[in-house]
Amino acid sequence: MHKPLLVANWKMNGDLDLLKQMQKALQAPFSKDLKIALCPPFVLLPSTQALFAKTQIAYGAQDVSNYEVGAYTGQICAKMLTQLGCTYVIIGHSERRQYCGETDALIAAKALRAIEAGLIPILCIGENAQQKQQGETQAVVALQVNTVLKSLNTDSLAKLVIAYEPVWAIGTGQAADPQVANEVHGLIRATVAQYSATAAQSVHILYGGSVNADNIREFLLQPHIDGALIGGAALKPAGLMQIIHSVSEA
Ligand code: PGA
Repeated sequence: MHKPLLVANWKMNGDLDLLKQMQKALQAPFSKDLKIALCPPFVLLPSTQALFAKTQIAYGAQDVSNYEVGAYTGQICAKMLTQLGCTYVIIGHSERRQYCGETDALIAAKALRAIEAGLIPILCIGENAQQKQQGETQAVVALQVNTVLKSLNTDSLAKLVIAYEPVWAIGTGQAADPQVANEVHGLIRATVAQYSATAAQSVHILYGGSVNADNIREFLLQPHIDGALIGGAALKPAGLMQIIHSVSEA
């Protein structure tokens, strides 16, 4: 069993003040068996480094360029993130797929760049409401995972984090049923196993979508759920601490 990983995805929210409040709150002791990571907006990463570099809290970005370096106005490359001490980078979040037109192929290229630079990609996948209704969840998720995995070298797969986030559950207060999510996680693990049996054991597969302090334990009790990607509920220091405490008590 892995140490559970909880990742806070701030999306386009938060400011320096909130970051400082988080730093204060996260000084309270919590289980060493938990891994916590903050993913604030890019502009807050230097301050995140200053506040969290020497702590138990890891951090990362919410996106990265698929290019290594060069004339790509507005983009941020993986090396810039490692220079800021990032451990993780979220890739292929459904909001980027939806609002920025990101395709599986682009996301695969981003994952490759992240791994080459030594970052751990948190690859987000998940079906939308219509795909769920049409019974396409497994096919959609398998395609999303396969497109990325086939472009990566098998040695790098062990480091990958995959976040299963049903699109209909994000920000809606309507989380997936933990047992049903676990089945999808099992399929994801089996898909990873087709590339590397060792990686299938070590890959962290997170659940995301309306996770909060009340439902987190039920998710983490599932055998294939290794942590959570948390949006709204991780935007308040007290909310994040409540989640951490629920997990510590599990
Ligand atoms: P939510 O967002 O926890 O607010 O549903 C999760 C996510 O989008 O990563």
